[in-house]
Amino acid sequence: MPVCDLDKRAPVGKKVLGLDVVVWWDKNDNEWKVFDDRCPHRLAPLSEGRIDQRGRLQCVYHGWCFGGSGDCKLIPQAPLDGPPVHTFMKACVGVYPSTVQNGIVWFWPNTDPQYKDILTKKKPPYVPELDDPSFSFTMFNRDIPYGYEVLIENLMDPAHVPYAHHGILQATQPR
Ligand code: FES
Repeated sequence: MPVCDLDKRAPVGKKVLGLDVVVWWDKNDNEWKVFDDRCPHRLAPLSEGRIDQRGRLQCVYHGWCFGGSGDCKLIPQAPLDGPPVHTFMKACVGVYPSTVQNGIVWFWPNTDPQYKDILTKKKPPYVPELDDPSFSFTMFNRDIPYGYEVLIENLMDPAHVPYAHHGILQATQPR
């Protein structure tokens, strides 16, 4: 997701390779976070929630609040003198390892804790031109509701361009 398309004030939901994720700005850790877009309570999409005054991701349904590590910080309905249920593992959200490179938020598509530090070893593909001020570019994000295989098949089929994109994309004139 290009950072320029994100808003630090509100979470954004995306479906990527079949995964529903939410991207949000964690002001406490000063970085973008990518979480499972499902609240561990009753599976409401966290992308419909908000960033609360303490910089936590708050579920829109019952107000559970989560920190940048996926840890539940608050269950508003839990009695103050009861057990600390917000600390239970089942109250945590899945966190995808993520990083920013070339102005894009990247994530590793697995929340298993064994991959927590994977991005220290495996980096996203680096495009040096995107960080070179002598180059100019436009970055945008487009949701395409079909699978990777269909997209690749389409990109490998340039013969369709002058017809399917007639008048939109420049291409060699048809004979
Ligand atoms: S579904 Fe998220 S707090 Fe209840």
